[in-house]
Amino acid sequence: MFKINDNYLKLPGSYLFSTIAKKVNAYSEANPDKNIIRLGIGDVTQPLAPAIIDSLHKAVDEMGHAETFHGYAPDLGYEFLRNAIAKNDYQDRGADIKADEIFVSDGAKCDSGNIQEIFAQDNKIAVCDPVYPVYVDTNVMAGRAGTYDKATETWSDVIYMPCTAENNFAPDFPSEVPDIIYLCFPNNPTGSTITKDQLQGWVDYANKNGCVIIYDAAYEAYISEDNVAHTIYECEGARTCAIELKSFSKNAGFTGVRLGYTVIPKDLKCGDTQLHALWARRHGTKYNGAPYIVQRAGEAVYSEAGKAQLKEQVGYYMNNAKVIFNGLQDAGYTVSGGVNAPYIWLKTPDNMTSWEFFDHLLEDANVVGTPGSGFGPSGEGYFRLTAFGNYENTVEAIERIKRM
Ligand code: MLT
Repeated sequence: MFKINDNYLKLPGSYLFSTIAKKVNAYSEANPDKNIIRLGIGDVTQPLAPAIIDSLHKAVDEMGHAETFHGYAPDLGYEFLRNAIAKNDYQDRGADIKADEIFVSDGAKCDSGNIQEIFAQDNKIAVCDPVYPVYVDTNVMAGRAGTYDKATETWSDVIYMPCTAENNFAPDFPSEVPDIIYLCFPNNPTGSTITKDQLQGWVDYANKNGCVIIYDAAYEAYISEDNVAHTIYECEGARTCAIELKSFSKNAGFTGVRLGYTVIPKDLKCGDTQLHALWARRHGTKYNGAPYIVQRAGEAVYSEAGKAQLKEQVGYYMNNAKVIFNGLQDAGYTVSGGVNAPYIWLKTPDNMTSWEFFDHLLEDANVVGTPGSGFGPSGEGYFRLTAFGNYENTVEAIERIKRM
């Protein structure tokens, strides 16, 4: 008789955003007259920028003619896109990353879940707490997390690095040295970030202790302060200890288009083995590349018109962030984030748990947010709102919360 991967059975409940969607759907079915405003999952609402649409149309037309038709994409992505990424996201920032160190994919969620495959099962991972649930859940699926303690909502073999108001939402170095460190800055879910000097501290720590950092920079486009690094490769020594994950979802609205990339510098080695070679082998074996038309759309992100249009789009969402931040602060809430990230992190009032506040907000303001505890035990007592809604809904949501 076949056997299943019973690590899957250890996972408590369903994926956070699936649970929320179920709850909201149930409420909506029971209350069809209510106008629900969704500021829960970090999904964008603004249409694709004109430069991207133009590029998509052109690429679609190319696919309709034998001379310009494209079949399987190259394993690691088309050169035109990898060159644009290497230049704009790295070399122009003084970061030494070459096009052949970039692996194009269909999004950072898959990459952040799959990357653990190239590491041995007995590696110990460290995560910020709260954290994007994909990092932990995929290590659970791989059998790397140990056993789940329902009472503390933690896994026995995962090192948690609490990020709370007490440490300004910046993780401290863990007392036990991990093998793999997941970092995401600007951070999901807290919306806070760390300075370039602090990030340099993590790079130095990783190099000194033989750790690898998996650095999720999905929210990089939202950085507004000068002392924050746009890529971990701005830090000295990052080429020997860091993998970086990037998404086109948040900077260019590709949540429904799907495009991302992973950077693995060739200097990143375990003994003599390049992690680059392992990921290339994995990519070539399990993946047939992001679609040509989507990679052309990605290229347009780096065109002059694309850059200008996307700057405006990011500005639009960050204006929403301001509306949420200021509105909640005026209403007496304790808020953080929203300056270098499209997420606002608030303390739940009156000692409500995160899920109690979720229900309160849904029922009394018809606004959906994300309970902080869904991201880890240190998220308990916090709540996340996203700035990715449209402006009118965002203003209306905050008015309703103020009246609540
Ligand atoms: C979130 O809401 O945390 C994100 O949208 C999830 C994701 O990017 O996969």
